[in-house]
Amino acid sequence: MSLAKQPLDFQHWTAAHLSRFETVLGELLPAASIAPQRLHAAMRYAVLDGGKRVRPLLAFAAAELFGADMARADIAAASVELIHAYSLVHDDMPCMDDDVLRRGKPTCHVQYDEATALLVGDSLQTLAFQLLAEHRLNDDAARQLDMLKLLAQASGSRGMAGGQAIDLASVGVALSLPELELMHIHKTGALIRAAIVLGAQCGNATPAQLAQLDHFGKCVGLAFQVVDDVLDTEADTATLGKTAGKDADHDKPTYVSLLGVKAAREMAQQLHQDALKSLDEFGAAAQRLRELADFIVLRKF
Ligand code: IPE
Ligand code: IPE
Ligand code: MG
Ligand code: MG
Ligand code: MG
Repeated sequence: MSLAKQPLDFQHWTAAHLSRFETVLGELLPAASIAPQRLHAAMRYAVLDGGKRVRPLLAFAAAELFGADMARADIAAASVELIHAYSLVHDDMPCMDDDVLRRGKPTCHVQYDEATALLVGDSLQTLAFQLLAEHRLNDDAARQLDMLKLLAQASGSRGMAGGQAIDLASVGVALSLPELELMHIHKTGALIRAAIVLGAQCGNATPAQLAQLDHFGKCVGLAFQVVDDVLDTEADTATLGKTAGKDADHDKPTYVSLLGVKAAREMAQQLHQDALKSLDEFGAAAQRLRELADFIVLRKF
């Protein structure tokens, strides 16, 4: 979509990207008819037909800011969404949050079995890196290698998986605010940040522009998990498509348990303002990123 043209409204923009992206994801995932059929069916179950797709949308908005080819942005967005879907499959397993509902459907280990869910996570993660390695995403090969490295760091022990480890080690523990922030920035912020930077890297953003977008990503990534914590206490299971009230049941430290709902919401508002400020230099061209920041903070599910 050309930014020079009159922009579609946000809902239309979102719908257009997501309908194309769903087809792309369906084609990138191995068909359920290919052996091992059960594993492939479970991978498709975990990825397709559900989820808000916030990370891909952030990648598309960042890609558009730099005039990137959308076919390239689709691959970058898919790589992050596959890692995210894997993280949810593992997050729901009995050894982690032990959840039975995800995206309005039985969780992967409930629908299939635990061993399959474990392998779904493994396979989605490796497929994500395969995509970044086999598709041309930037004419500059060094930039593309940077993208691979970025996703690896965001996914691993210094990123999402590390955040999950802190989360599991914190059950029943009274974390301080900086400790909670560190956990959230890792378990959720890292992939959101990566989605934005990878989208921008499909175009030709300068290092200074990437740093600004990275700061935007840090703010909205943290805000995303603060709001997730609030919704866990305020929204209902049917709206969320996942079991509400699990954090308190499992004695997880969250922004709500530490600060209460009101202060948690204020914290999200503050992060929202910081996020918007970091887009100032991009002017009107960053409107989609602004709208996504609004969605992340104001969402009801
Ligand atoms: C849920 O993420 C897990 C967190 C990182 C908070 P999302 O709320 O993005 O889940 P989907 O992709 O929409 O299902
Ligand atoms: C999960 O955080 C973050 C991940 C890396 C998956 P939560 O455990 O709060 O996510 P939900 O609430 O189950 O979606
Ligand atoms: Mg969890
Ligand atoms: Mg969970
Ligand atoms: Mg949660």
